[in-house]
Amino acid sequence: MKKTVLITGTSSGIGKAAVQALCCKWVERHATMRTPSAETELTTLDDVLVTRLDVRIRRASIRLSRAGIARFGNIDALINTAGFALFGISKAPHERRSRRQFDVNLSDSGCHPGNLPPLP
Ligand SMILES: NC(=O)c1ccc[n+]([C@@H]2O[C@H](COP(=O)([O-])OP(=O)(O)OC[C@H]3O[C@@H](n4cnc5c(N)ncnc54)[C@H](OP(=O)(O)O)[C@@H]3O)[C@@H](O)[C@H]2O)c1
Repeated sequence: MKKTVLITGTSSGIGKAAVQALCCKWVERHATMRTPSAETELTTLDDVLVTRLDVRIRRASIRLSRAGIARFGNIDALINTAGFALFGISKAPHERRSRRQFDVNLSDSGCHPGNLPPLP
């Protein structure tokens, strides 16, 4: 039986590469991004469900996991790549930028396993 993998941040980078690299023979892929209407590549792949998710919105994560379960029956693994790095000097206060990065990349307000149904 195929396993289902939920992947966040799939509009570019590691997330997109993960969706493309996982073999559709063994894995069903639930790819999430903030702007699915702009996606032209992942939407053409077999067994890929592309849906919208901003990981800062907790309720959206819960809604999304329900959509994935309705389609695939379960979520077997989470690849949470949604996030961003901080480089260089910015005028915005450091603490605010760091807090925002922590929320998006790590915190349990986003697509944290704690907001999803238990993974097997
Ligand atoms: N690449 C590396 O060598 C490396 C090394 C260490 C750590 N990392 C970290 O690993 C993560 C992924 O890296 P990457 O190279 O794949 O970066 P990337 O190409 O910039 O991809 C990041 C993805 O996260 C999405 N994203 C950002 N904020 C989001 C939000 N609030 N909700 C949902 N999606 C959001 C972006 O979507 P949008 O297109 O909508 O902005 C984009 O699809 C980043 O946190 C990065 O800092 C990367």
